[in-house]
Amino acid sequence: MKKLIIAGNWKLYIEQVEEAKKLGLALKRKAASFSGLDMVLFPPAPFISAVAAGVKNSSIAVGAQTISSFEEGAHTGYISARTVKDVGATWALVGHSERRAQMLDGIKAAAETEETIQAEMKAAERAGLKVILCVGEEERDPSGAHFATIARQLSSALAHFPKSGAKLAIAYEPVWAIGKSAAEACKPADLEEMAIFIRRTLSELFDRTIATKIPILYGGSVDATNAKELLGTGGVSGFLVGRASTDAKSFIELLHAVR
Ligand code: PGA
Repeated sequence: MKKLIIAGNWKLYIEQVEEAKKLGLALKRKAASFSGLDMVLFPPAPFISAVAAGVKNSSIAVGAQTISSFEEGAHTGYISARTVKDVGATWALVGHSERRAQMLDGIKAAAETEETIQAEMKAAERAGLKVILCVGEEERDPSGAHFATIARQLSSALAHFPKSGAKLAIAYEPVWAIGKSAAEACKPADLEEMAIFIRRTLSELFDRTIATKIPILYGGSVDATNAKELLGTGGVSGFLVGRASTDAKSFIELLHAVR
């Protein structure tokens, strides 16, 4: 059976390098007892190097929460795929809903469009990073329009991605389920339906045998209490975890729940 991928997206929850190192080390101490799964940690960019050094010689990988769509040149303040790779990242998140263009309290909070997401996919691929591509609808409606949203996000982001499908995982993260309580996460039966739909969409974009091998993860209010059912019924092969990954105790409890 393919290994589970359990990824921790630390967002801005971890603000100090000592805290980041401590969390990485606490997970490293446990990593050997969870040999059936691959852990990937996504610290804030300035901590990638310290966390990667701390988890060296373990099965834990480190990634960047985002990368620039620019590969190099005069782009002040951006961080390129090659740069994060150089300091120890082997993965990148692309297209997280908190980075896709959206309005937050009337302020345009992030401005990633389908075009910039395509460029980030290319930059990641050229730098040799593995990608977790995040897709997710803002809301569900009874007519099922969210399926069309997911199909569009996938086909746009993957339009120019290598047809080998290697170094790719998809994270289905419905925006309405992110940052809530476990009870408000996607229902396992709805997740199963969406995982089948994503798999079918991938098989239109990639060779069928390749499409079956691309891991599909779920993210959105996953913790130790709902992880097992989401995994069992939901038909996914891992999680992208936000809040519950930012504390060693809750993350390790989650790992125990899915083991
Ligand atoms: P959450 O975040 O687990 O805190 O809902 C998931 C994510 O945004 O990746």
